[in-house]
Amino acid sequence: MKIKPSYPNYMDIKTYLNEKKQQVENGLEEFMFKAEGPLTEHIKALRYSLFAGGKRVRPILCIAAAETVDQHTDYNTIMPIAVALECIHTYSLIHDDLPAMDDDKLRRGKPTNHMVFGEAEAILAGDGLLTFAFELLTRHNTNQIDPTDRLRIIEIIAKAVGSLGMVGGQALDLASEGIDIDFEQLRLIHSCKTGALITASVQAGAIAGKATPEQFEAMTSYGQLIGLAFQIVDDLLNVEGTKEELGKAVGSDAERQKSTYPAFFGLEKTRTMARETVNLAVTALEDFNNQADSLRELALYIYNRTN
Ligand code: FPP
Ligand code: MG
Repeated sequence: MKIKPSYPNYMDIKTYLNEKKQQVENGLEEFMFKAEGPLTEHIKALRYSLFAGGKRVRPILCIAAAETVDQHTDYNTIMPIAVALECIHTYSLIHDDLPAMDDDKLRRGKPTNHMVFGEAEAILAGDGLLTFAFELLTRHNTNQIDPTDRLRIIEIIAKAVGSLGMVGGQALDLASEGIDIDFEQLRLIHSCKTGALITASVQAGAIAGKATPEQFEAMTSYGQLIGLAFQIVDDLLNVEGTKEELGKAVGSDAERQKSTYPAFFGLEKTRTMARETVNLAVTALEDFNNQADSLRELALYIYNRTN
């Protein structure tokens, strides 16, 4: 069952997401290299996955977090960070789909990067996107973020996607295929593989908006909880979703004997756990006024999503 939005005066989440998504698309188009010159083929591979129609959840979370603490967030300040997060996310999807990892043929409703450009080029496309993200993070075309805060944003994102974060989570996920792990390990895999980048997206936005230490703490809890919920729902959709709606294979987790929440707890209990996790995320924002409604709605959207 869908959780109903509880903020009647707030802009409908679909309208909000469409508006923000369009802004992110414009930012991606502005910053990403054009497919021309001697590197045309390589850049085509980067652009193929980047513009394949993702939901842009991580950049939107970053922008929403910044706007929650600073109503007057300047797009020239926040957009390079938001786009960097989407570049990192897209790199992780390209590499995750490789034959050596999940060996998937469909992503975002299209053939995966290596199916179109070949394995070597897909690896390089991921490498290029990851590296470009850090170039973007150093871009300071406004003075709204002071250098210390910018370094903090870069450090948080680097740690979140490195070996003690997303990369490590992926390593644990692959190593746990076909073997029994306990719930603590499963939670750790989900928090690292998916939660870390989502948490960092919220934290980066909070820092860009000059959050107070208390606001940053609350946003961190919120980010960790929605990050976990995001992967729990991803597990559910791998069982209950359709290939058409998801734009990627369904049933693949069971086929690969992956440790997932539904495998552990069954579908009904998993739904309840996802819902409780999202409710806790909303509770973490209780000290914010209605300025945080976009983040509250985004938490519900993560629970309700069907793709
Ligand atoms: C779907 O995101 C993706 C996830 C739930 C993350 C899964 C984690 C990985 C693939 C980590 C891989 C890491 C490495 C290092 C290879 P989404 O539903 O937001 O997808 P969208 O952007 O297409 O909408
Ligand atoms: Mg996968």
